[in-house]
Amino acid sequence: MSAMRARSGMGETLFDRVPWIYAFFREHVFRDDTERIVAHLWPSGVPPAGATVVELGCGPGFYARRLAAHDRAVVASGLDRSPAQVAEARQRAEREGLGNCRFELGDVAAMPYPDQSFDALVAARLFVLVENREQVLGEMYRVLRPGGRAFIAEPRHAICARLTLGLMRLADRLGGPPITPGADQGEERIDVLDGAEFAALLASQPWRSVAHWADASYRYAVVQKESVT
Ligand SMILES: C[S@@+](CC[C@H](N)C(=O)[O-])C[C@H]1O[C@@H](n2cnc3c(N)ncnc32)[C@H](O)[C@@H]1O
Repeated sequence: MSAMRARSGMGETLFDRVPWIYAFFREHVFRDDTERIVAHLWPSGVPPAGATVVELGCGPGFYARRLAAHDRAVVASGLDRSPAQVAEARQRAEREGLGNCRFELGDVAAMPYPDQSFDALVAARLFVLVENREQVLGEMYRVLRPGGRAFIAEPRHAICARLTLGLMRLADRLGGPPITPGADQGEERIDVLDGAEFAALLASQPWRSVAHWADASYRYAVVQKESVT
């Protein structure tokens, strides 16, 4: 079995079986919000030296790598449940010479981090896939340091995400034996949040401040945790 076909403890998904297709879409098709993320996470425009940031459900680690490249003094991480996506992210970070970037395998609903581990969090195109959204947001609140900010970007329309997964499924079927029946069902449940659902999700944690807005393609939020007084 090749690395691409490796099975994670949590079940193989299309993100494991054809990781390069998602990486291609992430790099070349989806919007790059790096500048927007920097501006909202660090309003001064300059992250403090040693600032820690983690991209949750990082896939090929697009934002963790972009943020690490944006400022070499940032310590960037990525967390994903797909071993192939984590491998893809690590290879790309190495190719790009990013020594301030690391990637780990894990579940965003039960993060392998102590409380208050990070100064900043990024969750892009994640809640469209996870079922236990409030649990994931609760974990985000837990691992964020007091005063820290999280940036969330969610696609508004299912069509692009479904098209990407459709192409992944097609490539997978052309390229190898069928996946275990049902194993990728979680990935097929693309479920975009409407404005009311997004607002209700954000309100499920006791943030100090919440800002959310939308444009034609994405819903965005920036939330900040209460500082210690
Ligand atoms: C649509 S991709 C988003 C990747 C990246 N954040 C981006 O901006 O393109 C969603 C990623 O979340 C991961 N994922 C889904 N559920 C997860 C979970 N419970 N824990 C960790 N990663 C998860 C998938 O493996 C996939 O790599």
